[in-house]
Amino acid sequence: MLMNGPNINLLGKREKEIYGEFTLQTIEERMTKLVEKHGGELDCCQSNHEGELIDYLHQANEKSYTGIIFNPAAYTHTSVALRDAIAAIDIPVIEVHISNVHKRETFRQQSMLAAVCYGQIVGFGMDSYRLAALAFLVSGLADS
Ligand code: DQA
Repeated sequence: MLMNGPNINLLGKREKEIYGEFTLQTIEERMTKLVEKHGGELDCCQSNHEGELIDYLHQANEKSYTGIIFNPAAYTHTSVALRDAIAAIDIPVIEVHISNVHKRETFRQQSMLAAVCYGQIVGFGMDSYRLAALAFLVSGLADS
């Protein structure tokens, strides 16, 4: 599953010098093609609401997804509730960021979620998502 958090629906319009010109629709279409090329299926969701993102994580757990590629956006830096939700589920989550959060403002350099994620990929623009999908393939997690 591909999950995106708050304001990612505004990609292509918001802070283009940081996040680029591409839209969420483009990411979802390209990711779906990539996953299908490797024989998998991808569900995509985006929400601007913390509780709804938690519900998606719980639902993904019930549906036994192979893995979750998750850009939690600003909730990365604030959300104990999302951290607890990721810790509570059995599905590996890869945290993804379009920008290199480690060379931005100090408050963006801390992730509440990274410690309960399988891994973290940051700073490669749209390719951060692709690299996360490849990480699932290379690690063997997507074999079953
Ligand atoms: C982001 C980085 C976050 O700090 C920010 O709040 C976002 C996008 C990224 O993909 O680079 O909304 O997650």
